This record gives sequence, C-alpha cells and structure tokens, in this order.
Amino acid sequence: AASASASASASQDSLQAFYVNFSEITLGEKVGHGSYGVVCKAIWRNQLVAVKEFFASAEQKDIEKEVKQLSRVKHPNIIALHGISSYQQATYLIMEYAEGGSLHNFLHGKVKPVYSLAHAMSWARQCAEGVAYLHGMTPKPLIHRDLKPLNLLLTNKGRNLKICDFGTVADKSTMMTNNRGSAAWMAPEVFEGSKYTEKCDIFSWAIVLWEVLSRKQPFKDIDNAYTIQWKIYKGERPPLLDNCPKHIEQLMTACWKTAPEDRPSMQYIVGVMNEIIKDYV
Ligand code: ADE
Repeated sequence: AASASASASASQDSLQAFYVNFSEITLGEKVGHGSYGVVCKAIWRNQLVAVKEFFASAEQKDIEKEVKQLSRVKHPNIIALHGISSYQQATYLIMEYAEGGSLHNFLHGKVKPVYSLAHAMSWARQCAEGVAYLHGMTPKPLIHRDLKPLNLLLTNKGRNLKICDFGTVADKSTMMTNNRGSAAWMAPEVFEGSKYTEKCDIFSWAIVLWEVLSRKQPFKDIDNAYTIQWKIYKGERPPLLDNCPKHIEQLMTACWKTAPEDRPSMQYIVGVMNEIIKDYV
C-alpha cells in the first residue's frame, strides 16, 4: 500500500501517517456516487465512516494532491479525512460519516421538508464558515469549486452542516459540461475555463442560499449545462423571492455578481450572516 508514495517528496511523507491497511476497512452499503467513483458506508477501527473509492482511472497524483490538502483541513463544518488506503488498482479515502445525508436529498427528497427560516440561515452560515476557513488557509487559499447542496452533508438531526467532496477531480469543468452537473451553481468564470479565484465559491454560496430559502432547485426545468451557463453568462439568475428580507436579498445578489471582484469575501459573509441570524433565533 505504501508503494504509491514510496517515491514521494519530503512534503508528501507527512501523508504516510494517513495510510491505512485495506484489511482494516469493512465496506458496507453504497451511499453515493460520482464520476470519480463510489462512496460506501464502512466500519474502520470500531467507528462508522464513509469510504470513497476512486476508480482505477483516477490519476494517483490528483488523488494525492487532494489528500495532501484534505489532511490539513480541520473544521466543524468540513467532513474530516481519517485516512487513505489502496487495494489492487483502487484508492480509498476514509472520511467522517454524516448520517443525515445530503442537503440536496433533504430539500428535494420524496418527503416535503419542514424547516424554518432560522434553519435555512443556519445552514447557509455554516457553509460560509467552512468555506471561509478553506479560503483562509495558508500559504494558499483552498478553493472548493463545487459547492452545491449535493456536497453539503447533514449531521446532528439536520442541525449541523459539513462540506464534502472538494478538489477531487483535476478538471471538473470538463466532467460537468457533459450533463446538468453543477452548472446551476457554477460561477461563469469557472465554466468558461477562465482563470478563477476563491470568489467562485462566493457565487456558488449565493445559489445555495437561494435554494434553501426558496426550497426549489435552481434552473430545474433546464437539463442542459450549456444552456444554464449561457443564461448565467447573460446575467440571468434565479428569481428573487417575494418573502425574502431585503438585507438577505442584498447579500445574495452581491454574491452572485458576474464580476468576481464585485463579490464580497467569505469572511465578510460570515460576519454579515452572524449579524442577520441574531434576528431569527
Ligand atoms: N456521501 C458522500 N460522502 C459522505 C459522507 N462522508 N457521509 C455520508 N454520506 C456521504
């Protein structure tokens, strides 16, 4: 199992501490999937964990890049990485398990969800806290690039939110153009393949905020990723909500501006959210 990193540089040696023998993992039922592979429930060292299996086609160096970043991340609003393992051609990431499933499934599942505005604002705030942490990492900010409710997991009876699944695929934009994918949450500069900064996460966060407030899926009636992004590029956004308090609407529309430099920082958003939320408890 150690062979993949045997030739690694000194900085990658710290990864060694994360390597786990595959025999320690007891895989259970499948709980999710993506273009990279599948996620299974599993038992590892007497705890329930989520194990993400990368298809053999995934580039080992891309996986190691993700693991290297993830191994430094420790925050209550981000799914923790416990270890990495490999077996035959596949690579496995051992992660904290979130029993509440994704925010997407909660919002748009078979049962119509019941939740308050305070709840919606709390999810958005927790998402902002996690992303602000990533953006504040040194020496370089970590950019999620694929924030959307499918990548936001719930714990503690839906009260806590944890971000998962970032940096997994080297070229996300190519995989996303194949279908609807993440187009509705993606900042125009990312979809275009232009140079982008952490401001792309601010755009996605605004769409997530709209989604938890509206309880609707953005651009739901359009199934073509290019059509969605063409509309976004042209300045179209999800419709403003009748019952939305003006200061929340102001924050949302500032965050989904077309020019990345016109969007506020995540640290600023956290500050504003903490102020706004006082009115809803
Ligand atoms: N699906 C994807 N990642 C997961 C996790 N960490 N816990 C539960 N379900 C997941």
